Amino acid sequence: MYSKLICVAIYLFLLGTSDVNGDFLFKFGWYKTYPNGSRTEVSEISSLDKAIIGDTKYLKLKAKIPVLFPGSVKNIEHLEILKLVSCNVHTILPQAFRDIPNISMIALNDNKIKGIKTGIFNNLNVSTILLHRNKIQFIESEAFDNMTRLIKLQLNSNFISYWDNNWFKNTPQLSELYFRRNAIRTIPSRAFKNVPARNRKLKIYLSKNYISSLEQDAFYGLKECGQIWLDRNEIVDLNERLLADMEYLEVLILAKNFLSSVPNKLCNHLKSDLISLDLTNNNNLTCLDYELVQKVKLTNVQKIRGLDCGCIKNLKNKFVNNSQNNEINSDC
Ligand SMILES: *[C@@H]1O[C@H](CO)[C@@H](O)[C@H](O)[C@H]1NC(C)=O
Ligand SMILES: *[C@@H]1O[C@H](CO)[C@@H](O)[C@H](O)[C@H]1NC(C)=O
Ligand SMILES: *[C@@H]1O[C@H](CO)[C@@H](O)[C@H](O)[C@H]1NC(C)=O
Ligand SMILES: *[C@@H]1O[C@H](CO)[C@@H](O)[C@H](O)[C@H]1NC(C)=O
Ligand SMILES: *[C@@H]1O[C@H](CO)[C@@H](O)[C@H](O)[C@H]1NC(C)=O
Ligand SMILES: *[C@@H]1O[C@H](CO)[C@@H](O)[C@H](O)[C@H]1NC(C)=O
Repeated sequence: MYSKLICVAIYLFLLGTSDVNGDFLFKFGWYKTYPNGSRTEVSEISSLDKAIIGDTKYLKLKAKIPVLFPGSVKNIEHLEILKLVSCNVHTILPQAFRDIPNISMIALNDNKIKGIKTGIFNNLNVSTILLHRNKIQFIESEAFDNMTRLIKLQLNSNFISYWDNNWFKNTPQLSELYFRRNAIRTIPSRAFKNVPARNRKLKIYLSKNYISSLEQDAFYGLKECGQIWLDRNEIVDLNERLLADMEYLEVLILAKNFLSSVPNKLCNHLKSDLISLDLTNNNNLTCLDYELVQKVKLTNVQKIRGLDCGCIKNLKNKFVNNSQNNEINSDC
């Protein structure tokens, strides 16, 4: 008799504190089916599907959803944009999103997501995934495989501490990789071997990590690329063969690192000149070699305390003498 009561009490207690809201996806919240539409309040929702919210193209939801379990969002044929922003999501289980064939954007930014497992996003038709400002520490090797329409992946401001060169198998359209403000320390060999080898629109953002070393063959396999951002890291030196496998690169940003020199032959393998090389705020840099700067349309060496202005002037004179219109920006 008493034990039964105790069991009921414990059950009620667990119900009240349960993290996964009992059988519900969320208990209370609101959604919009147009960006400018009005809020519809809903409660005790077990999954988001056509039966509840209609076959909408747009869905923005505000609710506390700690766990997105399998089938949390499902069976909405026309859904193109799904926004689950600031919903306190900390876990996404595989198959959370099902039967949303026309989905093009999923926004999950500003949650508390701890990691990305395989089976959540694979095979979705999505082209943009926003995951910035979460608490992501791990991304399983296959988590973004076979995403044939994926263009933009936004992972800025997370806790990612490594780069896995097995990520992104079969992602032929991948063009924007945002990994700013994470905790990556090294860029391994052939880090981008799975991303499209020739995509002049490809932009790789690795600004503001703790990168101190780049493997000599970190970029091998990448033949053509638009922009590589490595500013605000801890890079002390660059291997002269770092870009040896690359034929085309437009922009290389290395501002705010600890470089004291840049290899003369860094750009010698590119088939056309680098458009911009940004070395601002590398305070231990004194000068650069003519062999390097003549392969770069615009070299930026502003805000460098120990820069040798005589040497910079000499480089500029050589451009004039050789009637080359390359430029060097400096504070000299
Ligand atoms: C919302 O915006 C669309 C155009 O984007 C417009 O056609 C529609 O009337 C607007 N609805 C409201 C409720 O303002
Ligand atoms: C899918 O979305 C595209 C726009 O991204 C739209 O043109 C098309 O009509 C949609 N198809 C379906 C079946 O909803
Ligand atoms: C992706 O879209 C195509 C149509 O464009 C559709 O046939 C296919 O089922 C969709 N895939 C998924 C996983 O929804
Ligand atoms: C990706 O596709 C390949 C080939 O179809 C398959 O072997 C692999 O299991 C798929 N990976 C994922 C994570 O779905
Ligand atoms: C930068 O130069 C200072 C002073 O010459 C030196 O103490 C420091 O070790 C140098 N840093 C690097 C990363 O080379
Ligand atoms: C540029 O040419 C002038 C005249 O030929 C020569 O005196 C000068 O040394 C050259 N400067 C450089 C940096 O090559």
